[in-house]
Amino acid sequence: MSTIYKVGYIVGSLAKASINRQLAHALAKLAPPQLQLVEIPIKDLPLYSYDYDADYPAVARAFKQAIADVDGILFVTPEYNRSIPGALKNAIDWASRPWGKNSFARKPSGIIGTSPGAIGTAVAQQNLRSVLCFCNSPLMNTMEAYIQFQPGLIDADGAVTNASTAEFLTNYMKELHIFIERVLTVLPRDA
Ligand code: FNR
Repeated sequence: MSTIYKVGYIVGSLAKASINRQLAHALAKLAPPQLQLVEIPIKDLPLYSYDYDADYPAVARAFKQAIADVDGILFVTPEYNRSIPGALKNAIDWASRPWGKNSFARKPSGIIGTSPGAIGTAVAQQNLRSVLCFCNSPLMNTMEAYIQFQPGLIDADGAVTNASTAEFLTNYMKELHIFIERVLTVLPRDA
């Protein structure tokens, strides 16, 4: 019997029509049955300051708890000005603190993103890699996934309309499953 892993996905965009949220919904549909995807929202987090460290607001405590409750994290991020959106960096800063209570430590993660541009969030993803490296999150190195968004790529039901992109994204989610299982075999959550 195979283990079911909970994966929290964090969408880096706050936009209502976010193409990255569309991608996240598509990935949830393409994921193997061993992965159960849930969104971990970031939109209500205030701007982080270490003044909060002594007494985190309820929304930030809930955010950290949501990360604690999942086996792995999938970042689905846009690229804003060749980096990750400020809202996503702010969320990561909240989760990484207070000092000694970094929510990302030993928590496996994957990164993916889409943009209409030809390089499909590649620069933002590289930036995010260095942030997560510092946060001690075991990060899936391959597959990399830089998705160039075309209108109609994902339909209203979250289905990917291009067969080769659908196959690629299915393989990405299979790899994420294998990666999370490997990391948690070596670094069990309760150890
Ligand atoms: C962008 N966009 C963009 N695209 C890109 O490929 N590289 C970039 O550096 C930027 N920079 C950028 C800055 C800002 C402030 C905005 C609002 C947009 C375009 C971006 O890829 C496009 O708006 C996507 O729709 C963003 O993804 P979400 O927010 O719809 O998920």
